[in-house]
Amino acid sequence: MKVKLLIIILVTSFISSCLDNHNSEGARLYLQHCTPCHMENGEGLKRLIPPLTNTEFLQENRSNLPCWIKHGMSGPIQIGGVEYDQIMPGVPTLTDTEIANILNFIQTAWHEGLTFISENEVKDALKECE
Ligand code: HEC
Repeated sequence: MKVKLLIIILVTSFISSCLDNHNSEGARLYLQHCTPCHMENGEGLKRLIPPLTNTEFLQENRSNLPCWIKHGMSGPIQIGGVEYDQIMPGVPTLTDTEIANILNFIQTAWHEGLTFISENEVKDALKECE
């Protein structure tokens, strides 16, 4: 019995440390690639850079997010009644896993409504723009 319990404890702590690692990789990548524009708190910059804190917008555009991060985006968008019409450069060197980690960092940092995004979901979404 005791051994079983020990194994369960070891396995759960291993899994949770993996999740932590993924999330801290997401945080590190966010800091490196996204903070310069979207800011550390994800609020963006006035009418120039849109916020990443609007759950409704991200939910509606969930399947576009991997393409936007990898290949950039432009053209007018509306978030919370404000129109943005600028150009965001993509980061084509990011892998599917890294994109998933960034999105899951954004999700845990500022959203309750968004659910976990897997590497496979990112891979499928990227088929639309590759
Ligand atoms: C050089 C500045 C810049 C960088 C760096 C940048 N973005 Fe953006 N981002 C923008 C701009 C500007 C827009 C709006 C583009 C438009 O008007 O169509 C935008 C739009 C977005 C959007 C859709 C609108 C919204 O606010 O939800 C998402 C999601 C996003 N960026 C995520 C990211 C992530 C994640 C990173 C880091 C991998 C990143 N961006 C890096 C400038 C940037």
